[in-house]
Amino acid sequence: MYPESRDYMMEAYDTNWMSTVGKNINEIEGQIAEYVGVKYAVALSAGTAALHLATKLAGEKIYGQPRPNKGTLDQKIVLCSDMTFDATINAVAYEDGEAVFIDTEYDTWNMDPAALEKAFEVYPEAKIVVIAHLYGTPAKMQEIKDICDRHGALIVEDAAESLGAQYKLNGQWVETGALGDYNCISFNGNKIITGSSGGMFLTNSKEDAEKVKKWSTQSREDAPWYQHEEIGYNYRMSNVIAGVIRGQLPYLQKHIDEKKAIYERYKEGLKGLPVSMNPYDAENTRPNFWLSCMIIDEDAMCKQVRDDKNALYIPEPGKSCPTEILETISLLNAEGRPIWKPMHMQPIYRNHAFITARGNGRARSNAYIKESGLVDVGADIFDRGLCLPSDNKMTPEQQDMIIDVIRHCFE
Ligand SMILES: Cc1ncc(COP(=O)(O)O)c(C=O)c1O
Repeated sequence: MYPESRDYMMEAYDTNWMSTVGKNINEIEGQIAEYVGVKYAVALSAGTAALHLATKLAGEKIYGQPRPNKGTLDQKIVLCSDMTFDATINAVAYEDGEAVFIDTEYDTWNMDPAALEKAFEVYPEAKIVVIAHLYGTPAKMQEIKDICDRHGALIVEDAAESLGAQYKLNGQWVETGALGDYNCISFNGNKIITGSSGGMFLTNSKEDAEKVKKWSTQSREDAPWYQHEEIGYNYRMSNVIAGVIRGQLPYLQKHIDEKKAIYERYKEGLKGLPVSMNPYDAENTRPNFWLSCMIIDEDAMCKQVRDDKNALYIPEPGKSCPTEILETISLLNAEGRPIWKPMHMQPIYRNHAFITARGNGRARSNAYIKESGLVDVGADIFDRGLCLPSDNKMTPEQQDMIIDVIRHCFE
């Protein structure tokens, strides 16, 4: 935290703007819109709230205003990133839609354009795609946007983890958060800059910004009393939280530089081990390096089994697995994490369709035919990958201890 955040918070307090209106909100909306390169930013209580209203807006744009007791996506298919935090795609369920999960590719660990293309073959009626940029690494947006344009589909972009990351679209660097039709960021406590909580909806459309602002403040009509013609929400950001974010924004680039240094130090320190870092396209993307991750080579994995709650492994000389490494680094009081468990593997979404580059990702095996070749990329990265401690307050010495412990796991 920086003293500027305290000053802006105190300003809200001293001037009695302890509310969801005030100078901090106006300032931070303007500053974020300018930083990301969009015309309008609407400050909300969380990234999840931004994703809800963005998804609802996409639904209303295509399917019209729903009845009050129905969601905007009632019985509609929405094509969604699979390996992400569930807040990316839960809004589809809030709006009564059906998420279909699109497998991941190995180059950036994001939505696979080939799988998305396949999904449009299976679901030509789909008109909305929800996509996240995992761990601050931009997805293959050029390919994804081209596919969506060809199928007349709108993109809800979840840039919650990737504020400050850039992507080269049609030869021009564009910030994530400006790449979709409806764009969202988060200021949750663990993000690259934070307000302790908070999120924003970003857009170039004045009409969309006004709609989201109206929905986020209980959908009041223009009348002397509380008059409602559509469902509303209490999703607006507090002026106090906006003050914290306002004090953090000048440090965004510093945080990105620190996170990049952490990534590079891991990359160097883990050299020679049968592992690699989370990949990115160095020519067309500039990640924000929010989380450093690694993936273990297939033939260096010891046996590891996970159910819905527990994980076990069998130690083996020269080999390791995420469970062993996470357990070992936790002994240093450092926090690593498993990769986001893909949505198609989550109990709540197990019955939803899952599409890979080869087509249907469910019911893939056949008792009578031996199939070779991996088809579920998300499950594989979840199995072999892990998020490394990436706090920018970590010292090089602390990071070296983590690297030593990982080396030890492969002895
Ligand atoms: C990819 C992703 N989407 C959405 C969210 C939700 O944001 P918030 O916590 O601000 O609601 C998060 C993180 O919290 C996230 O990592």
